[in-house]
Amino acid sequence: HFDAVIFDLDGVIANTAKFHFLAWRQLAEELGIHLPDEAESRLKGLERMASLELILAESDAHYSETQKQLLADKKNKHYCRLIETLTPMDLLRGAGELLEQLVIRDIPVALASASKNAAAVIERLGIAERFTYIADANRVQNPKPDPEIFLMAAQGLNIAPAACLAIEDAAAGVESINRAGMFSVGVGNQQELGEANKVIGSLNEFSVEDYFKS
Ligand code: BG6
Ligand code: MG
Repeated sequence: HFDAVIFDLDGVIANTAKFHFLAWRQLAEELGIHLPDEAESRLKGLERMASLELILAESDAHYSETQKQLLADKKNKHYCRLIETLTPMDLLRGAGELLEQLVIRDIPVALASASKNAAAVIERLGIAERFTYIADANRVQNPKPDPEIFLMAAQGLNIAPAACLAIEDAAAGVESINRAGMFSVGVGNQQELGEANKVIGSLNEFSVEDYFKS
């Protein structure tokens, strides 16, 4: 049995992956780069600058570091405009119910999100007060798959990593959890998330009784 849960945000709790993709696609169009649909899964979970590099790799043009920073800022403006429309309806299947069950059972919950917009997103989804601790993407040195962000979340909760169960939708995130020495649950398909200790199709399938004492 475990003592705490650490959640990834985008693609686990929040239906925001589509907004990240739309914002990148808008930027790509402005640069004359075609972003195919299949790029959406390759972008999943990648932090902001790594995502930009992946997009710029589709073009022959050279961009300086300053230009790259401006492009990343531009994408973020597009993204921030898109998430203004977020409401509790954009919680992914089972997320609201699971968070509620954990709070009822007094199980501490933390967030480990690569997004610098995480605080704004959970605020709009109406779940900000569910989290005891938020691992701040702004303070993390090494992005997922490095374990740093999950270890920071465990430390913030004051719970040993081995007593934490963590949930991710991206392969890099699952690797990060495993390297942190936590139990990993992947939300998505088995093929993509095969490294996880347990794979489920959606949070609806997660049963609190299996992992936590009542
Ligand atoms: C991750 C998303 O949670 O955060 C990625 O899955 C995103 O798509 C990354 O690129 C960084 O987010 P942001 O909001 O800081 O640009
Ligand atoms: Mg994610």
